[in-house]
Amino acid sequence: MGKIQVLSALALLLVVYSVHATVYFREEFSDGDEWRSRWLDSKHKSDYGEWKLTAGKFYGDAEKDKGLQTSQDARFYASSARFESFSNEGKPLVIQFTVKHEQKIDCGGGYVKVFPADLDQAEMHGDSSYYIMFGPDICGYSTKKVHVIFNYKGKNHLIKKEIKCKDDELTHLYTLILNPDQTYIVKIDNEKVESGSLEDDWDFLPPKKIKDPEAKKPEDWDDHAKIDDTDDTKPEDWDKPENIPDPDAKKPDDWDEDMDGEWEPPMIPNPEYKGEWKPKQIDNPNYKGAWVHPEIDNPEYSPDSNIYKFDNIGVLGLDLWQVKSGTIFDNFLITDDLKEAEDIGNETWGVTKEPERKMKQEQDDIKRKEDEEKNKEQEMEADEDEDTDDDEEGDEDLDEEDETKEDKKDAFSEIEKDEHNPTWGGAANVVKGM
Ligand SMILES: *[C@@H]1O[C@H](CO)[C@@H](O)[C@H](O)[C@H]1NC(C)=O
Repeated sequence: MGKIQVLSALALLLVVYSVHATVYFREEFSDGDEWRSRWLDSKHKSDYGEWKLTAGKFYGDAEKDKGLQTSQDARFYASSARFESFSNEGKPLVIQFTVKHEQKIDCGGGYVKVFPADLDQAEMHGDSSYYIMFGPDICGYSTKKVHVIFNYKGKNHLIKKEIKCKDDELTHLYTLILNPDQTYIVKIDNEKVESGSLEDDWDFLPPKKIKDPEAKKPEDWDDHAKIDDTDDTKPEDWDKPENIPDPDAKKPDDWDEDMDGEWEPPMIPNPEYKGEWKPKQIDNPNYKGAWVHPEIDNPEYSPDSNIYKFDNIGVLGLDLWQVKSGTIFDNFLITDDLKEAEDIGNETWGVTKEPERKMKQEQDDIKRKEDEEKNKEQEMEADEDEDTDDDEEGDEDLDEEDETKEDKKDAFSEIEKDEHNPTWGGAANVVKGM
């Protein structure tokens, strides 16, 4: 290799190096209880819920999948971790983490908040001002969404689009990418689920155009497309009464004029009645079309190419409420590199998701079989009771028949349940297990 080639190879290396990712924060809870030295509990309230370090009831890897789990029902949780502060000016910002609602969450937050470095962590609470809030939020059937909230000039702005979050019991990877060209991407499990521009999808800025307050529809503006035909006249014989006496009605034979008064036939709708006369409609020769309110540039609007920019990003916090606890947070990552984030997502969640799903399915299968056994035992006990009550011959056969029918019914209701529950292995597994 000549000198020049060596030099250019070196230069290339340098270029590769200089575009290498910066990881601002990474937390995978892989060093036992050490996380306690990195995470600080808020003291704002005295009764925050406790975090537990665990991989949960089922997992892909007993060590890798250890994360922070909410361990007490109906509690607020408030803890945060600090990192060397930075600005995302001119660079992408990627915020990524995994959430696992293994408890079948009914209502609770699964999101993170990213704070400026001047946050007083010991005082962090629901109203502490943050830069970004991102992640899933579930409450009942109606709220199952991914929050993407940005603080802009002191005010929190919620995304105008609805992003559905995952609501099963498995671990999912949530990623927010914020680009310096003021576009964003939301990914779940390394797949894009939403994207767009900050200006379009949030109300950060007042509208660019407004209706001209000076403009008014001219008095003589004719916006009637059709008018009455003045040449049209009502036909002579148009007007007929709406109701007429029934020509077929007859005075009853026993009608007594002295007693009942003068007999009058009942009224019926007149078949010749044509309703109110209206002149024919013709095109209006003076029609000018619908008046459009002219728009002007909104004097309140001024573009801002720095909506995306946050200075002194320095703390990541979990500040949330959960009714049924059990959510596990793990694999936190803040970086400026999309590919690095995808890579790390693949190395963590990507590696453990499949074995985790398998372990869960095995547990579900065992649980289902146990339940089936229990049901059978209960039915047999019930049958035995009946047998001792009633000693008639031929009864046994009947009971057996009933039992198989019951079994089939149970199996079908299992299948039905399965189809509504995507976290189950699916109907095929139930049939196989029968
Ligand atoms: C992550 O994994 C997916 C699925 O296997 C793959 O398509 C993608 O290229 C991987 N990403 C990176 C950055 O390696």
